[in-house]
Amino acid sequence: MSSKPWEQWSPEKVQQFQEEFLTWYQKEKRNLPWRYNQDPYRVWISEIMLQQTRVDTVIDYYYRFMEAFPTIADLAAAPEDKLLKIWEGLGYYSRARNLQAAAQQILAEFNGKMPDTIDEIRSLKGIGPYTAGAIGSISFKLPEPAIDGNVMRVVSRLFCIEEDIAKASSRKVFDEAMRKIISHDEPGDFNQAMMDLGSSICTPTSPNCEECPIQSFCLAYKEQRQTDFPVKSKKMKPKDVYYVAGIIENQQQEFLLQQRPDSGLLASMWLFPLEEVSQARFSELKSSYTEDLTLFSSELVAEDSPIIFPDYPVVWQKKILGEVTHVFSHLRWHILVFYGRTNKNLEDSATWVKRRDFSDFVFPKPQQKMLGVWENNQATDNH
Ligand code: ADE
Repeated sequence: MSSKPWEQWSPEKVQQFQEEFLTWYQKEKRNLPWRYNQDPYRVWISEIMLQQTRVDTVIDYYYRFMEAFPTIADLAAAPEDKLLKIWEGLGYYSRARNLQAAAQQILAEFNGKMPDTIDEIRSLKGIGPYTAGAIGSISFKLPEPAIDGNVMRVVSRLFCIEEDIAKASSRKVFDEAMRKIISHDEPGDFNQAMMDLGSSICTPTSPNCEECPIQSFCLAYKEQRQTDFPVKSKKMKPKDVYYVAGIIENQQQEFLLQQRPDSGLLASMWLFPLEEVSQARFSELKSSYTEDLTLFSSELVAEDSPIIFPDYPVVWQKKILGEVTHVFSHLRWHILVFYGRTNKNLEDSATWVKRRDFSDFVFPKPQQKMLGVWENNQATDNH
């Protein structure tokens, strides 16, 4: 006998499963803006945004993106800074750059229309098996699975799949199981029913099995082993990296901003100057400076600078404005934020910007947090 539970489902059982599941979806589906129609451009943008970001966060970004770039041609022709401005704060900015590259590819190779075969969709920049499956099934009714973390959780419970979902090699097992059960009439609804079930009922730690439309099909429920699944090996912990940041103001009330290199993490984005320090130096600064206003007030000190970089004649305020932490997928940044003044009018490549013009620059999340720290201090401090 086969050890794969889905192979034991008869065609009648598969059909019954699909009917019950799709009926539930029709009744319970979330009313989301990218579900108003099946236009592949709309589906594509939403799926890319949703890959690393929660639905609640995506909705606003999605509306703004669609308003700014209503068609594939608009996206292809967009100035990069406008594109990144719309994406600002959403993270994983290569997603936005890849979207644009793929839009240009669609204009060049597919007459400006999203192709309608899985292989062609997969050939577009930034589109992997998940996104291709979502676009193919929702927009073109191709019976292709769209397997993300939510779907793996649901399917692993449905069939008690023991494969480690953190391993890429496990994907083919989930793909095989999904291909067995996916509706060929309504593959897009089927995939989205999986996503909705995973986010509303079949949740990671306390699934609400009493409300589950597919409870009677679920092996994990039958064995009362719901929370044994999915099997997932521990993720590598993000690596800690320590920085000091300088919010440096000149006599024109302008602030120094620096642009990141045009490749790598936060490519081309703007931040207050950062200097990497050792963990020991970070701790030393943390204990020798203070956030407590009553101790040092707003005293500015010329000597004993907390930040060596940049090599400008800066007089630093003798306190830490705050500490910012930001987690990327593989790194955790810890930043101590300092404030300093300079009276030199520097005419090199430095970019000095008035506070009111910050909105012309694309600020990643850590920069937004540093700015928040600065603004909190402004509200409580007069220097
Ligand atoms: N998560 C990923 N794709 C989704 C979709 N199409 N609807 C709801 N949640 C999702």
